[in-house]
Amino acid sequence: MNVSFRHLVSASQVTRPDADFLMQRAAEMEKNINDSIDVLRWKILASLFYEPSTRTRFSFEAAMRRLGGQVLTADGFQFSSLIKGESIEDNTVVMAGYADVITMRHPANGSAKQAADALDLHRQRTGSEVPFINAGDGNNEHPTQALLDLYTIQKECGRLDNLHVALTGDLKNGRTVHSLAHLLSMYEGMRFTLASPQQLKMPEHVLDELRAKNIPFEEVDALEPAIDADVLYMTRVQKERFEQPEEYERLKHAFVLKAADLGDRKPVIMHPLPRVGEIATDVDPLPNAAYFRQAQNGVPVRMAILATLLGK
Ligand code: NCD
Repeated sequence: MNVSFRHLVSASQVTRPDADFLMQRAAEMEKNINDSIDVLRWKILASLFYEPSTRTRFSFEAAMRRLGGQVLTADGFQFSSLIKGESIEDNTVVMAGYADVITMRHPANGSAKQAADALDLHRQRTGSEVPFINAGDGNNEHPTQALLDLYTIQKECGRLDNLHVALTGDLKNGRTVHSLAHLLSMYEGMRFTLASPQQLKMPEHVLDELRAKNIPFEEVDALEPAIDADVLYMTRVQKERFEQPEEYERLKHAFVLKAADLGDRKPVIMHPLPRVGEIATDVDPLPNAAYFRQAQNGVPVRMAILATLLGK
């Protein structure tokens, strides 16, 4: 295995050499994407999505198929035994009997760790080697998104060192920014602007990690200062995490980027998507609007992750 982890649950498992290896491998995958790279021929991915997904699910599935593999897919709770009360642990171990690798998105924080721990126990008992990949657990983490974000930043900026990155929007509930802050904090000369409404600030545990690594960051409650960064990473206010719908309504359009706001500034504009009004469509034609390229990068990056975790 060329990375230090068996399962990918959290971005905090990814070391700098792991990230370098996966970025390089993703670049090779991207270059050869139209050739037949049959390294996962006859292998099966179980793709379990208990929360809505377009990009993550379909790019995982496209990645698996482009590697010559096949996919078993669960879409929503209604057709899964989880709705009958089956535990995540049992469900995962059962799926490990049908597939060679499992990815899951689930609304509960920590569900990814539960699944990975269950597979470790199962491995001790049976020797089964099925890796698990977190496709988003509640408002906790989304490590494969962070890896494709890293890949996108490298491609768009030509480097990962000495960057000023602005993470903006719902930093409290947005799982992608939690994982991305961790990955970016491995690089030299990184500096963050964290722009969010007061109620949606970055969690303390993420800030503590930045402090521990002496990474400069500034917290602001407006979008304007974030536009000066090299990378402007926008996010959606995460409606499904709000207890009070009125609170969501009040905050949903706190930060909206329009082409006119940019002036002569040209940050690389990213968004994990879906956008629901945070980026006006008049930004789309700009050469620095990178969010659709970012979404497409999900395929080669997930190809690299799948092939590597399956030891190919
Ligand atoms: C993100 C997610 O699910 O966390 N979407 C994605 O995977 N590209 C972001 C979001 O839903 O806002």
